[in-house]
Amino acid sequence: MSEFNGLVAAVTGGASGIGLATAIHLAERGAEVAVLDLDGTSVEPPLIGFSADVTSRTSLSQAFARVENQFGRLDILINNAGISAVGTVEENDDDEWSRVLDINVVGMARTSALALPLLRRSPAATIVNVCSIAALNGLPRRALYGASKGAVLALTYAMAADHVREGVRVNCVSPGTVSTPFVDRMLRSFPDPVAERAALDARQATGRMVTPEEVASAIAYLASPSSGSTTGTALEVDGGVHTLRVRPA
Ligand code: NAI
Repeated sequence: MSEFNGLVAAVTGGASGIGLATAIHLAERGAEVAVLDLDGTSVEPPLIGFSADVTSRTSLSQAFARVENQFGRLDILINNAGISAVGTVEENDDDEWSRVLDINVVGMARTSALALPLLRRSPAATIVNVCSIAALNGLPRRALYGASKGAVLALTYAMAADHVREGVRVNCVSPGTVSTPFVDRMLRSFPDPVAERAALDARQATGRMVTPEEVASAIAYLASPSSGSTTGTALEVDGGVHTLRVRPA
């Protein structure tokens, strides 16, 4: 497919999970894809890796300079880098709040701010933020994580309003639980990871976790030049968990 031919995409956190699936999906549909991750060397062609830390303006600035040098343009930014947090407000200390919000929320604002000068020069400029259904549902022991993704949802709407007249569309996807290394690490913090994994599968109306490829496909839909009238939306990719109330299997 050639839908993204001639366009350049940057995917933060693109070396693993949803980000990697998205980078591969966009490349398969014709985009040139820059992966910005802590270790940019781990990705394979046709993806091109750039080491960048979304908590560092200097690091991001250097990465976008290298992207511009390599490709001469940037059309699509996927703000995907994010980390998990498990706990109630009593269980996460101030340092953990600062660390998670700095990556999950400020990281997206920081990355977008540095990408916008390049995006404004694109005829098909778009940003897709990776939110979560944790922004929309009260999930147990996800106080900090849910707060971070609630902020991503609000940030998406605010950015969409700020940049629509500049020709930059901004949307987000809200995945349910996706089977990635992120979930594997999170499960290790539960006393019975096997039971917790079964509970996560059962929570989905579909009875299984979402796949990274399903989220990648939704991100590509929002990022596509053919979605020119879609801005300021949140697209749920969650196996029905947010809106459906089905009987337990
Ligand atoms: P993952 O852990 O498989 O991949 C995350 C990537 O982000 C890694 O390659 C990691 O190196 C990178 N990263 C972490 N900190 C970074 C930093 N400071 N700078 C640059 N890169 C950094 O995680 P997964 O599951 O693919 O998650 C991606 C996004 O999807 C996150 O924003 C997460 O909150 C969100 N999400 C995940 C869900 C899930 O169930 N897996 C559900 C809903 C949303």
